[in-house]
Amino acid sequence: MKKILITGGAGFIGSHVVRRFVTTYPTYQIYNLDALTYAGNLENLRDIEDSPNYHFVKGDIVDAAFLDQLFVEHTFDGVIHLAAESHVDRSISDPLSFVMTNVVGTVNLLNAAKKVWKDDLASHLFYHVSTDEVYGELHDPSEFFLENTKYDPRSPYSASKASSDHFVRAYHNTYKMPVLISNCSNNYGPNHFPEKLIPLMIHNILNNKPLPVYGKGENIRDWLFVEDHARAIDTIFHHGQNGETYNIGGHNEWTNIDLVKLLCKTMDEKLGRSPGSSEQLIQYVTDRAGHDLRYAIDATKLKNELGWLPSLQFAEGLEKTVDWYLANESWLDNVTSGAYQHYYEEMYEGR
Ligand code: NAD
Ligand code: DAU
Repeated sequence: MKKILITGGAGFIGSHVVRRFVTTYPTYQIYNLDALTYAGNLENLRDIEDSPNYHFVKGDIVDAAFLDQLFVEHTFDGVIHLAAESHVDRSISDPLSFVMTNVVGTVNLLNAAKKVWKDDLASHLFYHVSTDEVYGELHDPSEFFLENTKYDPRSPYSASKASSDHFVRAYHNTYKMPVLISNCSNNYGPNHFPEKLIPLMIHNILNNKPLPVYGKGENIRDWLFVEDHARAIDTIFHHGQNGETYNIGGHNEWTNIDLVKLLCKTMDEKLGRSPGSSEQLIQYVTDRAGHDLRYAIDATKLKNELGWLPSLQFAEGLEKTVDWYLANESWLDNVTSGAYQHYYEEMYEGR
């Protein structure tokens, strides 16, 4: 593989994937295609932006004509597709933008690739990065999501990601497009946009703002450090079997309230605040509509077939994350000003 298109590379996970590929594979030419929505931020890639094998292209995957032209110009040997609308709460207030980017955008990419790859499909690869949310929610504590768990998306976000997964599989079956899909659990780490639980809580603790815990805080998520996800994507891209799906997860389940309390404790220690002071900021607020109870991934297939395992213990990963936000307060200030501030106020102050 020489010329690789990574979509959504200015976002949270995408920026870690771009950095990993640019620095690990200097012979590859890495093209980062991103529309720079509110979630895309080129500051995330400042350290590698001058690398000779890194190229940024600003563009929207909903624009089919633009994609067709880009693929004619560059052909690309492979695609790693991360661009998406990714926040469940936004999908509840604006489902259609999730259909446009996540479904139509993915089909546009598949079409653009198919047109230029058609005479030599076998030497190309379309890797689609998806989520564990397509499997729905778990109730029985002994159950985990497996690659063959029935799809049961329950939010507009997960319905749009499930639909995009189906299209990728349909192109594999119908047109023989070489594809890979991975479904990962909740990521955390540096550059995570502060509308998501962990960075939102860090931001609010720092600024002595209320910590909005949805419902009773009993929902469970399975957290994975973002660099471990990027490493899994690297492994699957290079060694995954054509047409296969791989689940990625940390075996690291936390109820939201326990996680928020752990963050409060960690931040109190780091900020030299008296023990228990940040916990006083916790406020139980109206639950998310259709809130999935529990996600938990079984990543045995990835471990047994491709040898991937998470590398970081949660305590270490969380400390690294908190340290990054404390050292990069200007990043937080930049992304929480302007248009985002308006959204944040509407979203959270009404709760
Ligand atoms: P993010 O919201 O941080 O980043 C998304 C990126 O896509 C942004 O840079 C944005 O500008 C870009 N983008 C959005 N719409 C676009 C469009 N129409 N055209 C081009 N670019 C566009 O998302 P993330 O959390 O980094 O997630 C990346 C991918 O990984 C998504 O596909 C998501 O479904 C999946 N995923 C995320 C998690 C998680 O915990 N965050 C877990 C599993 C899977
Ligand atoms: O499981 C993978 C998914 O994880 C990804 O596909 C999504 O892109 C990503 O956003 C994430 O979805 P979640 O909905 O699980 O993440 P979020 O950070 O929004 O919420 C985590 C949990 O915390 C969830 O149970 C809702 C709760 N929550 C969230 C916010 C923002 C709160 O209690 N308060 C909050 O303010």
